[in-house]
Amino acid sequence: MASLRNGAGPFFRREGDVKVRIVEVGPRDGLQNEATPVSTQSKAAFVASLAAAGLHEIEATSFVSPKWVPQLGDAEELWPRLPTGPLYSALVPNLRGLERAVGLGVRRIALFTASSDLFTKRNINMTVEESLAVAGEVIRAFRKSVPEGFVRTYVSTAFECPYAGRMAPSVTAGVAGRLHDLGADEVAMGDTIGVASPSEVRSLASTLEVPLSKTAWHFHDTRGTAIANVAACLELGYSSFDSSAGGLGGCPYAKGAGGNLATEDLVYFCSREGFETGVDLPSLARASLPVLEAVGRSPFARAQLAVLAAS
Ligand code: HMG
Ligand code: MG
Repeated sequence: MASLRNGAGPFFRREGDVKVRIVEVGPRDGLQNEATPVSTQSKAAFVASLAAAGLHEIEATSFVSPKWVPQLGDAEELWPRLPTGPLYSALVPNLRGLERAVGLGVRRIALFTASSDLFTKRNINMTVEESLAVAGEVIRAFRKSVPEGFVRTYVSTAFECPYAGRMAPSVTAGVAGRLHDLGADEVAMGDTIGVASPSEVRSLASTLEVPLSKTAWHFHDTRGTAIANVAACLELGYSSFDSSAGGLGGCPYAKGAGGNLATEDLVYFCSREGFETGVDLPSLARASLPVLEAVGRSPFARAQLAVLAAS
């Protein structure tokens, strides 16, 4: 684990490594929860604005069943319209989704399961064990057709399930370890309903057996604890975080899931703490305005509001 320098200057800054990696999930996690349909053209323009603001990794859409998530049913139309530059990933739930994605040239896939059967049954109609079997099949097939591809995975309800309650860190860590053993390049720990606090993050981190460099954290900010959790992760030496521009987000199959950690809040906090994100905050603050308007919402992310008020 990286050692921390606790002296003058930003508390969390580590010698020799001051970069934070952001995976922008707004076009996928942000929009999947919105009932008002957003046009493919608006989605492509949203992604282009995010890329122009300096976001280098963007989860652009899902190849899930359009019956389950109608908002992202236009993945085939959207993918060819994405501007070149960033690394794009897409959510894939099964072999059918993989076939659709690979057919379009997708090189980074994101698979998802959870620590709770009650959640996976509602979200993907499988038990956790069944979903791990499917993940294994999908990873093997993907490696065959795209050997240089990247496999991101998610463990949802990493801290608490809206249906089963609190999750023991050992259960979540067990699922994360299984995904890693299946050959995932990265495992993202998902606080799907935004309940966790820093001590829970530390407790889970201490039981994880996935290497630090292959672990990302995916916080939702339902109760305002996401930035405190990021701070705890940074102290522990983690540097990969998912967030959503404008704080859009949620999961249609998780009762009470609020928005994701806003990318604006993450970028502000990290840069104020001396970490590089490569993102231009004023450009980012404007990037989500058209989609927010399209879904009938006013901006609500705190750092976004502050930047807009000052400009
Ligand atoms: P199912 O109904 O059990 O599956 O759904 P099925 O195999 O019986 O298929 C039903 C129909 O969907 C069939 O069509 C299939 O062909 C079709 P029909 O015969 O009725 O015409 N189908 C598909 N179509 C397109 N693409 C596919 C596909 N697969 C089947 N890939 C399934 C099972 C997994 C498909 C479904 O439950 C599903 O798509 N779920 C996705 C739900 C979702 O996207 N949830 C949100 C993402 S997870 C999340 O947000 C959490 C995260 O952000 C991290 C965190 O915050 O914790 C990642
Ligand atoms: Mg999420």
